Amino acid sequence: MSAIDLFLSPATDGRRPFIVGHRGASGLAPENTLSSFSLAIEMGADAIEFDVHQTSDGHPVVIHDELLDRTTDGKGMVNSTDIKTLRKLDAGSWFSSKFRGEKVPTLEEALELVCRNNIAVVEIKHGSEFYEGIEERIVNAVESESRWKERTVFIAFNPSLLQKISELDNELKTGLLIVDPPEEYLEILDDFGITSVFPRWEKMKAESVHIAHRKGYSVHPWVVDREEDARKLLELRPDSISSNYPNMLSGIIGRSDAS
Ligand code: G3P
Ligand code: CA
Repeated sequence: MSAIDLFLSPATDGRRPFIVGHRGASGLAPENTLSSFSLAIEMGADAIEFDVHQTSDGHPVVIHDELLDRTTDGKGMVNSTDIKTLRKLDAGSWFSSKFRGEKVPTLEEALELVCRNNIAVVEIKHGSEFYEGIEERIVNAVESESRWKERTVFIAFNPSLLQKISELDNELKTGLLIVDPPEEYLEILDDFGITSVFPRWEKMKAESVHIAHRKGYSVHPWVVDREEDARKLLELRPDSISSNYPNMLSGIIGRSDAS
């Protein structure tokens, strides 16, 4: 089974959930940077979640907000900034002077680092209604290296956006981000070619996981940072758990040898 098929398969064989570093190890390093991703991997993350927006000249880049202001020393919208300007920005100092000079990664840089041995969970923040041509650009990027394609799942809150990704390449894997319990959404997943659900962890119940597994979908709750919450969530047998502190999760459940 390929790495991404294993990551997205319901863990009904009793395997422990995979650990997802949310925006890397973003409790300990500047979110969505290569340093944050490397640290998460060192700490035992099997997968790295990160967010993608697009520059004014059409480059998919890794940053959480539409605006540069919170996580860089720049100002304004990502989609009114060209790649040359964006790459001069400092995306580390806002977090700590130790990370001065950290850049906003391109999508390719992030995939190159993460997919060497791990899984990339790529959240597409907006589709082409906001970023013209972004779906084609992202699909072309991930298709350019077979290893990237075999180790990537695309996630989004908008099922139509994920459907577009599948229409461009039906081998690509997708997961729907949801806030409510998964069982309310399972009926629509097939229609959009979606193979997994990524619910907010707070509303999850053991029954939610059972129902999803019975229908063949894996369940990937986000984002748990307190150890006592993680221990409760583990009892529900999810397929992965994401955290800003992947070291907390590997401290509880150990490291996987699957990545
Ligand atoms: O992994 C899902 C989660 O990242 C969605 O919320 O705001 O952290 O991107 P956000
Ligand atoms: Ca995200």
